[in-house]
Parts: sequence; C-alpha cells; structure tokens
Amino acid sequence: MAIRTATDLDQNKIHRIYRSAFPKEEREVVAQLAVNLLRQNTTPSTLSFVAEIEDSITGHIAFSPITLTEDRNCKGYILAPLAVDPNDQKQGIGSQLVQHGIQQLSQLGIDILLVYGDPKYYGRFSFNEATAKNYSPPYKLEYPFGWQGLMLSDLPPAKSPVQITCVPALSDPAMW
Ligand SMILES: CC(C)(COP(=O)(O)OP(=O)(O)OC[C@H]1O[C@@H](n2cnc3c(N)ncnc32)[C@H](O)[C@@H]1OP(=O)(O)O)[C@@H](O)C(=O)NCCC(=O)NCCS
Repeated sequence: MAIRTATDLDQNKIHRIYRSAFPKEEREVVAQLAVNLLRQNTTPSTLSFVAEIEDSITGHIAFSPITLTEDRNCKGYILAPLAVDPNDQKQGIGSQLVQHGIQQLSQLGIDILLVYGDPKYYGRFSFNEATAKNYSPPYKLEYPFGWQGLMLSDLPPAKSPVQITCVPALSDPAMW
C-alpha cells in the first residue's frame, strides 16, 4: 500500500470510493465534498491523499485549513472526509491515511487538527472532545460528542471560545 497526494485525475475514483464506503443517505454529499475539496484552491492549501494498492485507489482523506477568528496565531486544519473501499477495510489503511496527514501537518507547523466523527475511531489517534471544546464549529452539531481535536504543536488548546470558519466546500450545513 502506498500513499500519495491526490490529483484532479483521481476525481472519479475518489468519488467511487465514497459511494461504496458510506451509507446511501450520506454517500452523495460526502463524495461531492471530497471532489470539491480537490478542485477548490485554498490558502493555505487543502491536502488530499489517496491510498493505492497496485496502482488502484482504495482510500482517500482530505485536510482543509480553518480560520480561527479569535486566535489568529493558532494554525488549524480539519480532517474531512475519510473513506476506505469496503473490500480493503480493517487492514490499517484508514489509520495510515490519518497518520500520514498528521505527520504532514506537523511538519507544516500546524497547531491543531479538528475532526467531526466517531470518537471510537478517532480516539485511537488521540483526538479527544476536551481539546475541541473551545473551538466552535460553524454549525450546530447533531452529535456534539463527535467534535474532537488533537494538538500537533506545543500550543495549549484555547482557554476561551474560538469561532472556526471552514473553506467554501465545507461551509454548508449539509456537510455537518
Ligand atoms: C472508518 C474507515 C475509514 C476506517 O478504515 P479502515 O482502513 O478500515 O481503518 P483501519 O483498518 O485503520 O481501522 C479499522 C478499525 O477501525 C474500526 N472502525 C471503523 N469504523 C469505525 C467507526 N465508525 N467507529 C469505531 N470504529 C470503527 C474497525 O472496526 C476496525 O477495528 P479493529 O482494528 O478493532 O478491527 C472505514 O471503515 C470507512 O471508510 N468507513 C465508512 C466511511 C466512514 O465512516 N468515514 C468516516 C469515519 S468517522
């Protein structure tokens, strides 16, 4: 298994991974999010990686930058979305994609990585609810316990509320 940066040429294959991995009611929205994040230029850059087995794409993950309104010195990203082809799940591919991203973002000097997902999964990478507590997501969350953070630098988590703003592809309540 190899991990590389996704390109525009990967769009259809990435779309297909999400359609196969997510439940029917979510798959189209999440697949479109993955493709939109790949297409839209952002500053700083959105990172998008694919996992390949024998040149065939089997997983994808994206990390997009966030703006922290009350704390401009803190550099943040959000992890979304993530999927692995159901035929290749439970072999560590999802974990390697998450860890690859964490490594890249740490090298870039990013302070905090946020995620909205299942704590049972993201807890294994040390994401936790306490770290994310003061970073207010752009929309009200149906499952607040899924909002988690991981500090990547020595910076402590914010002690008072900080409003986060996402890139345009994620600035849609349907994504949350
Ligand atoms: C979540 C996902 C990316 C994990 O990919 P993967 O390659 O199977 O991940 P890994 O092999 O690194 O880890 C697999 C482990 O995570 C567990 N896991 C997967 N999804 C989980 C979830 N939502 N909650 C808790 N545990 C989960 C598996 O049961 C497995 O556990 P085990 O190690 O005890 O066997 C994959 O299951 C997937 O694409 N799911 C559908 C899309 C999705 O839910 N994406 C967002 C994640 S919140």
